[in-house]
Amino acid sequence: MRIHRRATVALALAALLSGCKGERKKHAGTEADPWVIGMSQCNLGEPWRAQMKEDIAAAAASHPEMKVIFKDAQNDSLTQRAQVEELVAQGIDLLIISPKEAAPLTQPVADTFKKGIPVIVLDRAVQGDDYTVFIGADNRKIGLRAGRWIADKLGGKGKIVELKGLMTSTPGQDRNAGFREGIDAAKNPGLQVVFEADMKWLEPDARAEMESALARQPQIDLVYAHNDPGAHGAYLAAKAAGRSGIKFVGIDALPHEGVRYVLEGILDATFAYPTGGAEAIDTAKKLLSGQKVDKKMVLGTRLFTRDNVERGGEAIE
Ligand code: FRU
Repeated sequence: MRIHRRATVALALAALLSGCKGERKKHAGTEADPWVIGMSQCNLGEPWRAQMKEDIAAAAASHPEMKVIFKDAQNDSLTQRAQVEELVAQGIDLLIISPKEAAPLTQPVADTFKKGIPVIVLDRAVQGDDYTVFIGADNRKIGLRAGRWIADKLGGKGKIVELKGLMTSTPGQDRNAGFREGIDAAKNPGLQVVFEADMKWLEPDARAEMESALARQPQIDLVYAHNDPGAHGAYLAAKAAGRSGIKFVGIDALPHEGVRYVLEGILDATFAYPTGGAEAIDTAKKLLSGQKVDKKMVLGTRLFTRDNVERGGEAIE
């Protein structure tokens, strides 16, 4: 009887020490039996997502005590939901997810978390707070700073096209709200958003939306796109239509994408949006070793313009 009680206490203690609601880790976290991390990526079609995967893989390469299984949902929320369930059924020790859309991925994330599996949500958020840690840049702030930069660049006067990221994803919502606050149309009545559309983060969609904007608006001074593929698609549409004198602003600033576009004179500005891949692996290691971690990790941004790009851009406070 006494032995039985002792065993129960020991088990309860072990569960407590493992830091995860009564569930014990499935793997030991050694080279022979590494922790298994499931990484659910909403798509791998865009350069920024490929970069996130590379950043995660590079960071994980120096941790023989963990291994990462990557899943690509090919831009479909239902597929992503199923893939999260598959990873859990496979026996992962921790989930990293960059969800396509907030609403449909909230439940699978919450279910995983409630099973005692730590969940790191990367870049795009879910609803509520049933997850362990959120890591990402402040999209509202990026939108705000983009709006202020644009208002200043246009001298408080001009016609703007806003090409929005998927509005069922949180970065799209925040980059829109921040931007509207930043241009402050109440104070700057000369600034007008004459056309806006959801291009779903996709370059071909942005190009098609920009064709509509060009057909309807004889004057466009600037395009604010929620990512660099969107800004580039808009640029290609304007070029094909023979319309010059339009400025283009994007977000992401990958060295081989947005920053290159600024260097080539295609974009006027882009704001860095770090992938958080290295931070996710670092945080995974801490969580799996039983350390406490803040619920939110906010990553910084940088502004790249034609004036500062040669110097590596500037940090935004
Ligand atoms: C890639 C992407 C990036 C953007 C991020 C927002 O899928 O569209 O261009 O910054 O997702 O979540």
